[in-house]
Amino acid sequence: MLNDVKEVLVSEENLDKKVTELADKITKDFAGKNLVVIGVLKGANVFVADLIRKINIPIALDFMAISSYGSSTESSGVVKILKDLDEDIEGRHVLVVEDIIDTGLTLSYLTENLKSRGAKSIDICTLLDKPDRRKAHIDVKYKGFDIPDEFVVGYGIDFNEKYRNLPFVGILKREAYE
Ligand code: PRP
Ligand code: MN
Ligand code: MG
Repeated sequence: MLNDVKEVLVSEENLDKKVTELADKITKDFAGKNLVVIGVLKGANVFVADLIRKINIPIALDFMAISSYGSSTESSGVVKILKDLDEDIEGRHVLVVEDIIDTGLTLSYLTENLKSRGAKSIDICTLLDKPDRRKAHIDVKYKGFDIPDEFVVGYGIDFNEKYRNLPFVGILKREAYE
């Protein structure tokens, strides 16, 4: 698995620092508010687990499972809800947590969908952002890192369901996905 990684893009140490920074901001901004944190499965699983343990106010945690990529390296734009929320978000503040925004198609679909359920506010927190590839405009309130247009894996992010369990974010070697 490690042999398929060309370069470490964000180390474990830098992930930890950034997650702490983001969680501190979220703690301040949502103090006294009725916050529902929504992790977008599967990719955000690792990030959201680390993030919520550093958020210092009461929150509710929920998940949605969404898929647009399938086994391809390109977003299809066709977004499927594989698992819906358990929580009713009407009148509540929602923070959507993603591992990466690429074309933006997943989040543009998701935020429209959540708006229609009457959330009081919807903000986005993403660990990684690949602005070069954006097709849909997304307002990101909490961002970890801007990254170049490379195929990244690890810390929850997969290629073909592989590499999610790498503890850092790395760039995949060409041979590994071609
Ligand atoms: C990946 C990633 C984001 C989305 C970003 O999910 O985790 O959710 O793609 O791409 P976009 O901005 O171009 O829509 P994927 O569909 O691979 O599902 P997964 O999280 O289960 O891996
Ligand atoms: Mn995803
Ligand atoms: Mg994926």
